[in-house]
Amino acid sequence: MVAVNKRNSEIWAIGGGKGGIGKSFVISSIGTYLALKGKRVVMIDADLGGANLHTFLGVKRPKNSLTDFFEKKMSLDDLIVDSGIENMGLLIGAIHSLAPDSIKHFQKLKFFRHIKNIDADYILIDLGAGTHFNNLDTFLIADKLLIVIVPEVIAIENFYYFLNNVFYRNLGKSLAAHGLKNVVQDAWKNRYSYGIGNLNQLIEYLKGSSEEINSAVNSELSRFKIHLVLNKVRSNDEIKIGNSVKSICMKYLGFSAQYVGYVEFDDFISRAINKRQPYMQAFPTSRCAKEIEGLTENLLEGRSVKTMISV
Ligand SMILES: Nc1ncnc2c1ncn2[C@@H]1O[C@H](COP(=O)(O)OP(=O)(O)OP(=O)(O)O)[C@@H](O)[C@H]1O
Ligand SMILES: [Mg+2]
Repeated sequence: MVAVNKRNSEIWAIGGGKGGIGKSFVISSIGTYLALKGKRVVMIDADLGGANLHTFLGVKRPKNSLTDFFEKKMSLDDLIVDSGIENMGLLIGAIHSLAPDSIKHFQKLKFFRHIKNIDADYILIDLGAGTHFNNLDTFLIADKLLIVIVPEVIAIENFYYFLNNVFYRNLGKSLAAHGLKNVVQDAWKNRYSYGIGNLNQLIEYLKGSSEEINSAVNSELSRFKIHLVLNKVRSNDEIKIGNSVKSICMKYLGFSAQYVGYVEFDDFISRAINKRQPYMQAFPTSRCAKEIEGLTENLLEGRSVKTMISV
């Protein structure tokens, strides 16, 4: 989350606990919109288990992919292909289902270094589902953290698991950067004796443990921010779920979530995929496309969505 990029590009990553909620659709559409707007965009498919970002962009699987970065030591720059959309490059995800566990620590750091060195205005990273630490670490290199939720109880539960894991990982890293290595992990390891049952209690425990830790935790809480996208919305009532989730983040965890937009359910998305066309180009005037445009503008401007529009 503290990516310092020598070429001034901005990294956005999209994650979420559950599979099939629309991470790849949303990020591919945001990327298409930005590229059509004239921004230089590079899309990175970092879903190590089920790479399909290229399919949302209408790109056939080329020969090379992220697998070649890890296995043949090719550079990311050489692996980024033309997406067929003006201004947009694409790094195809690891095609041969590279198990996340097989990536060594130094390879992961090299991957992150290469991403930060890509010459683009926006580097958009699509992640796979789940809370594997490689997934969380990739998410946390971004300047803007986008999380997709859908109006469904299981998906919201998965969102909280994901968020808890992201923040736990983030806190551990940032306290280590303050010279407080393993403080978070040790507290969690000994949680039963400290009476810690959840992330909120862990945060409270850490705050009370020393002045130095208290100030490091508080500074992380005020810095950390997520951007919520509510996808597959089918009614006005569902639109409000984004606001509830946002409030809960602040109330129970103490950090801010910005509800940047919702995207309605649209059967034409699968039609675009079957036509091998990016949705934003196939159906540019649809309501769903307008919602993607709106939420991307909100992300660019640091705004929240206005939730009075009807679906
Ligand atoms: N707003 C929407 N309306 C209708 N269908 C949608 C919408 N968003 C996504 N979909 C469909 O839902 C399915 C899953 O979408 P997608 O692959 O983007 O999810 P994902 O979160 O990236 O999944 P995974 O975790 O498996 O990578 C796809 O078939 C996609 O076309
Ligand atoms: Mg996906």
